[in-house]
Amino acid sequence: MGQKLEIIKQNVIECTKCELSKTRLNSVPGKGNFHSSVIFVGEAPGKNEDQNGEPFIGIAGKKLSAALEEVGVTREEVYITNIVKCRPPKNRVPTTIERNTCQEYLRQEISIIKPKIICILGNTAFNSLLGGSEITKFRGKVVKKENQLYFLTVHPAATIYNQELIKVLSGDIKKLFELIAELKNNKEIKIDIDYSS
Ligand code: URA
Ligand code: SF4
Repeated sequence: MGQKLEIIKQNVIECTKCELSKTRLNSVPGKGNFHSSVIFVGEAPGKNEDQNGEPFIGIAGKKLSAALEEVGVTREEVYITNIVKCRPPKNRVPTTIERNTCQEYLRQEISIIKPKIICILGNTAFNSLLGGSEITKFRGKVVKKENQLYFLTVHPAATIYNQELIKVLSGDIKKLFELIAELKNNKEIKIDIDYSS
């Protein structure tokens, strides 16, 4: 498993499949524990991530780490990645073409790690993976699509200047890990939106 992820990582590092390869400093492959029950999916690398080649290491990443810490989970225990692996200029939202070109890498990460649940962070991931919008309306919900469970929450960057959203993110992450505990015990969890039926 680790070896397969290592291959994806190398492919991402060398990738020139879309325009973002021309402006990035470093590609940012997914990072973390390949035995993780959950994959966190953000939007795209920002400035810090672009400079260092690691996902969620800037201010947004600190917010995510803090929310995880509150439930006793470290970054190293989970797997963290993004919809696109290279920074869009001026942090603009990645285009549909860029997302579609990059999606093969995320598809591979998911198929290797086989997470019990995928945690969608914010609108770009929500839209790219489930065709959704208005994450603030749907956050906290569990979605099932093609036999994969998803959990929806806000993007950690949205909490930077918003105290209310910090509480929302913390509460959602707490719920997420309660759900994961139930899934590990083979308990049925409540699906809020089922795209399969
Ligand atoms: N925002 C994201 O969506 N991803 C990162 O890796 C960092 C900030
Ligand atoms: Fe390749 Fe994805 Fe980077 Fe585009 S964003 S160059 S598809 S790794």
